[in-house]
Amino acid sequence: MASQEDLFKKVISHAKEYGYVFQSSEIYDGLSAVYDYAQNGAELKKNIREYWWKAMVQLNENIVGIDAAIFMHPTTWKASGHVDAFNDPLIDNKDSKKRYRADVLVEDYTAKIETKIEREVKKAAKRFGDAFNKEEFLATNQRVKDYQEKIDTILKRLGQSLENEDLADVKKLIEELEIACPMSGSKNWTDVKQFNLMFGTKLGASADSAMDLYLRPETAQGIFVNFLNVQKTGRLKIPFGIAQTGKAFRNEIVARQFIFRMREFEQMEMQFFIKPGTQSDWYEYWKEHRMKWHLSLGMGADNYRFHDHEKLAHYADAAADIEFRFPFGFKELEGIHSRTDFDLSKHQEFSGKKLQYFDTDESKNYVPCVVETSIGLDRMFLAVFSNSLQEEELENGTTRTVLKLPAVLAPTKAAVFPLVKKDGLPELAHEIIDDLKWDFNVIYDQKDAVGRRYRRQDANGTPFCITVDHQSLEDQTVTIRHRDTMQQQRVAISELKGIIHKEVDMKSWLMRMNQV
Ligand code: GAP
Repeated sequence: MASQEDLFKKVISHAKEYGYVFQSSEIYDGLSAVYDYAQNGAELKKNIREYWWKAMVQLNENIVGIDAAIFMHPTTWKASGHVDAFNDPLIDNKDSKKRYRADVLVEDYTAKIETKIEREVKKAAKRFGDAFNKEEFLATNQRVKDYQEKIDTILKRLGQSLENEDLADVKKLIEELEIACPMSGSKNWTDVKQFNLMFGTKLGASADSAMDLYLRPETAQGIFVNFLNVQKTGRLKIPFGIAQTGKAFRNEIVARQFIFRMREFEQMEMQFFIKPGTQSDWYEYWKEHRMKWHLSLGMGADNYRFHDHEKLAHYADAAADIEFRFPFGFKELEGIHSRTDFDLSKHQEFSGKKLQYFDTDESKNYVPCVVETSIGLDRMFLAVFSNSLQEEELENGTTRTVLKLPAVLAPTKAAVFPLVKKDGLPELAHEIIDDLKWDFNVIYDQKDAVGRRYRRQDANGTPFCITVDHQSLEDQTVTIRHRDTMQQQRVAISELKGIIHKEVDMKSWLMRMNQV
């Protein structure tokens, strides 16, 4: 069986080979943790963004979308607490000179114990066959219980030490667990220090008058500072939400997991403004609702789990992650945070402007509380892409590489092939494309034998291949092949649009949110 590392390497090389993701400025040897989306990647990313936007904005009467600027007045970041508190604890290895996030070193350690649990589960499932009950096994098997207890104890201590800013204890924990530098194996560590993640820049022409700015580390603040403008111009009543997607920037210390942790990335965030005191209900609502969105894509309920935070960000009174099973284990994909009235109150204080909502039902003013949902678009891309990449053993003994992207998200919905490059078949194939292109992204391919073209489109994630042959000229029928089943059907050209639409229509996919 391929190791996690091998699988991840395959994901990265496939993303490059099939025009999804390239290293930024590759001809200059790249820039660490910065990536470009290529022709297919840009389409997949756009489709994920649209799937999110429709679910959040179009399908919720009380949520509107905005697009705020990346540059914001620098006081924004003082008020939000990012200047003082948006830090990561970092540690250097004195021998290898490599720098790590101290909390990530500890979490990687616990992830290894988790892998051991998964191994025990697999072994037991094999042993007990159909009679295997995973929940019962996890709750009763002593070895698994010991592993889990060890994980819980370590993470609890890490959470508490970070919460109390006790960085000396974080170092002690690393030493007690005998965590070694992954590069060199050395356990010779420096003390743990805090490191601010914001990128600074300057606005203005001359050095004297230039203003120090930050590139936004989260899109959320663009929503907070516009809260009252949007509420008033949209005549919105609490509870209501403001959503946006856009770039965010963080000077990440650990940036070695491809597009999982980038220095420039995109977020899809929604701030839901509510009456103080109702946070816990809305927090639960959004946790559940967001999980439904994920499950609607059919990538397997087993691949998701909630992780409640021990250590809370400076603005939150409750927080949970939706974690996904990436090729390197379960990791955060999305955060749901109950941010209290922290941000609006702070902006009110720092700007001297009232940011209050007048509640007509209660005839009073108050600063609303906020429940936020925040997902990284690039991370979602990685979740979808890595989960979809599969090697399949075929009946004839060969293997095929297939990218089983949810059809709704696939960059190209269909590829149209003439069986041969003559006899009027290319012309008919182009005619079909000219008709389908108004509804879907479709491409033409005439290179190589049809079998190889199928393989190429499988690896590219294209849900349908349409082959035009000599019979097509006579009876206006073609062969349509389904990526996942590899089944082929002879259908009338006039039916193609309906067949493709049924599989890729965003509405039908989104409606699954109500069925999971
Ligand atoms: N506004 C709240 C906020 O920004 P966060 O947990 O720091 O919360 C939210 O980030 C989401 O943004 C994460 O769950 C993750 O999907 C994504 N994200 C954060 N940092 C990232 C990075 N360096 N690269 C890619 N995605 C990132």
